[in-house]
Amino acid sequence: MSERSDLLGKHIVLGLTGGIACYKSAELVRLLVKAGATVQVVMTEAAQAFITPVTMQALSGRAVATSQWDAREPNNMAHINLSREADAILVAPASADFMAKLVLGRADELLSLTCLARPRERCPLLIAPAMNREMWSHPATQRNVQTLHADGTILLGPDSGDQACGETGDGRMNEPADLVADLTAFFQPKILRGQRLLITAGPTFESIDPVRGITNHSSGKMGFALARAAVEAGAEVTLVAGPVHLPTPRGVRRIDVMSALQMQDAVLPVASEHDVFIATAAVADWRPASLSQHKIKKEGKKVAPTFELTENPDILAAVAALPKAPYCVGFAAESENLLEHARAKLLRKRIPLIIGNLGPATFGHDDNALLVVDATDQRQLPEDGGRADKLVLARELMVELARRLNLHPAN
Ligand code: C5P
Repeated sequence: MSERSDLLGKHIVLGLTGGIACYKSAELVRLLVKAGATVQVVMTEAAQAFITPVTMQALSGRAVATSQWDAREPNNMAHINLSREADAILVAPASADFMAKLVLGRADELLSLTCLARPRERCPLLIAPAMNREMWSHPATQRNVQTLHADGTILLGPDSGDQACGETGDGRMNEPADLVADLTAFFQPKILRGQRLLITAGPTFESIDPVRGITNHSSGKMGFALARAAVEAGAEVTLVAGPVHLPTPRGVRRIDVMSALQMQDAVLPVASEHDVFIATAAVADWRPASLSQHKIKKEGKKVAPTFELTENPDILAAVAALPKAPYCVGFAAESENLLEHARAKLLRKRIPLIIGNLGPATFGHDDNALLVVDATDQRQLPEDGGRADKLVLARELMVELARRLNLHPAN
């Protein structure tokens, strides 16, 4: 299995302010470090009432900064040194009080001082609000949210749901894994900003009777990775998914379907509104010609039942033939002669780009090896001919796509 280090080389200043959600920040540090980042924790006095610097030091592997008067800093300027080294400051949890302080530009303790003194051009500030729902919805907090937006602060969340106080509503801090995903996305170049992508993923399920059906081993992982990579690159993404048990990537609009016909119904009417269509789904080629209303019973039958099959529509070819067709990318899952089959498919479906992979080596795996094939050229991904995590490959495909669409890299 290939490892993915989404935040490798990134140095993050993680600020904690007073709130019950501080307990989640312990997990957040662990996940940030696991993703390859180095983390310098800064805690306000209130944060230390909820979780100790000892815990945060052990998880981050660095002494926690808690005071602007720390004489151990050679220049006695912890607030300057901290942000000059950082690729970003993430305040999680960010209390209502701390947000108000940011709005006013106050700097009476180390964390707010560091936020104010940071070089804004190269050290972005992201905050994950965490507070009771009444505090969050209060006009004062909402006014502060507007000002923070206007000042260029990026708000991650808050989430909605059960709160530590026993109430339910908006104000929960985003889960640590979601914060890491958001931070990772934040660092990805926005090469597809403004583009609308439509992606199919997973298998289809063709019913025989109410309890049985025909399907295949597609896990949906490649299509879901593409959807995530596209959102990370700034695109607006609609994902039409066959029956898979995968979480929806953040920021993706998902439409669940079962059969090829349902997938076609979800795709065709909206395809022309998109700039790009990526058909990752392993659509069943055939479906039972008729659906039995009731379960086909075994009892009393001497011979096994037989089924007539009928061909499913080719969704990709239909989209490619639309008068206002988006840029179409197909996938070819083969067991041999990848290049030959992929190119034949390219011509048959009249599409500009096809991604070849070996079926048994991709279905269900977290990593893959791809062959990017157009009418005249082909290239391997990863370039060394090995295997790479599907999200890493998906990000490379977004770069390939942006290049083919002549989009200018903009960050
Ligand atoms: O025709 P074949 O299944 O070999 O082609 C694979 C490509 O076509 C994939 O991109 C797949 O998503 C798409 N496809 C489709 N509708 C079908 C069959 C395949 O969109 N009925």
